Amino acid sequence: MEKGKIKLDMKEIELVKHAIEAQRNSQSKYSNFPVGCAILCHDGSIVYGCNIESAVYPSTLCAERVAIYSALSQGITEFKAIAIVSNNSAKPCGSCRQIMHEYLGDIPIYISDSKGKEFSTHFIEDLLPYPFG
Ligand code: THU
Repeated sequence: MEKGKIKLDMKEIELVKHAIEAQRNSQSKYSNFPVGCAILCHDGSIVYGCNIESAVYPSTLCAERVAIYSALSQGITEFKAIAIVSNNSAKPCGSCRQIMHEYLGDIPIYISDSKGKEFSTHFIEDLLPYPFG
């Protein structure tokens, strides 16, 4: 799938398809749990993230934070939606929820399995009630 500019009114499933593409880039040989993430940015660009694991286990970084940090490092600070894909539609970890709260704003969070079948939409206030910061 081509990255780059897409329509802002793209259907949710289109963003999930990007996250499925990102999941293919996962470096997860220790957990065998690949995660992909795609963020639809305010300018219509799509930023990918995947989990990247290290032999020094704590140096591993989740797909969501890879994507968010990548977007921020490119100067992109406004977002429209985020999609997260894993083989069992796993919900984001606590650290990722915190970073999503601090940097993404009140945008839809699509969570799906890697076939795009087990799909749900969330908002950060549901995933992280009573946040810090
Ligand atoms: N992982 C993510 O990429 N996102 C999460 O929100 C939870 C966990 C990754 C980290 C690690 O590479 C693997 O999943 C197993 O924990």
